[in-house]
Amino acid sequence: MLVFSAETSCDETSVCIMKEDKTILSHIVYSQEIHTEYGGVVPELASRAHLEILQQITKEALKESGIKLNEIDLFSATCGPGLIGGLLIGSTFAKSLSIGNGKPFIPINHLEAHVLSSFYNNEIKFPHLSLLLTGGHTQIYFLENYNKINLIGETIDDAIGEAFDKVSKILGLSYPGGPEIEKKALKGNGNAFKLPQPLINEDNFNFSFSGLKTSVNLIAKKNIIDESFIRNMSASFQKCVGAILAFKLKKVINKLYNKNLSVSVVGGVANNDYLKQCFKNIKERDAIEFFYPPKYMMNDNAAMIAWATILKYKNSHDLNFKPNPRLSI
Ligand code: KG4
Ligand code: ZN
Repeated sequence: MLVFSAETSCDETSVCIMKEDKTILSHIVYSQEIHTEYGGVVPELASRAHLEILQQITKEALKESGIKLNEIDLFSATCGPGLIGGLLIGSTFAKSLSIGNGKPFIPINHLEAHVLSSFYNNEIKFPHLSLLLTGGHTQIYFLENYNKINLIGETIDDAIGEAFDKVSKILGLSYPGGPEIEKKALKGNGNAFKLPQPLINEDNFNFSFSGLKTSVNLIAKKNIIDESFIRNMSASFQKCVGAILAFKLKKVINKLYNKNLSVSVVGGVANNDYLKQCFKNIKERDAIEFFYPPKYMMNDNAAMIAWATILKYKNSHDLNFKPNPRLSI
């Protein structure tokens, strides 16, 4: 069985052709650079760029894999959550190919695809926890099995990636902010600024990052934003975020599910090596196993959509979905 998948929910235009045994025959990710000058994603520009690039990278993927369109058995695309323009373009594109070729179309939930991405390259036993860290979401899921994925905590305001991006903007760095902050933090002092850890003492598994961003902004306004300030603030912000994530994770593991749980960390922010080190410290102290997807499945990509399609295939063949910018698992 051959699967063709498209991902267009934000500012990455991506397609993947994957075999049922999960061999990737072609995977193309086009990161739209047009948003850099705006310091964040401009939805209308993202839609236009998806429209321009999707057909072109599909042709490239078919060429690279040596597969003809009529050999594809299953088509899929992200149908939410995300920016509605991109969702409509990607899902209508893949759905049209499926109708044209008389093959099924499977709508894929972007969050579920992120959560399932660490199952691609790891042998993971249920029950399992998944920490989803992206530009749009910060969530903790408790997985009983592939079909029972329960949301147990999430951010009540900004997502963690969004916080990285906003702090990066305050510091005059470019978009996306996560990699920029990580780089600057390497040469900074994480104890230079004391930042708040919102919701840390509350008896739930939720997060809040908007106050943290506001604190950074207030401190920045009272200081000269030179290289030393940028480095120290980046390191202090990252340290604070790492402490919040580690604290909440421990809370979940200790208070709710005092069993032999393992944890996946998925989404674009899972690229961050400092945060990985924070999780490694938990692993060493509390013997909790941490899993990550392959690097190319951390940021938005169509390979995770294809992989989720293969896992979902037996459960759903639904042409009657509606793209939904607020879709939840
Ligand atoms: O998963 P993703 O590609 O898209 C969404 O579904 O949102 O995540 C994008 C987010 C951006 O906010 C970006 O700044 C962040 O991931 N990110 C990072 C790093 N690389 C990407 N954040 C922290 N450290 C990184 N190395
Ligand atoms: Zn994503």
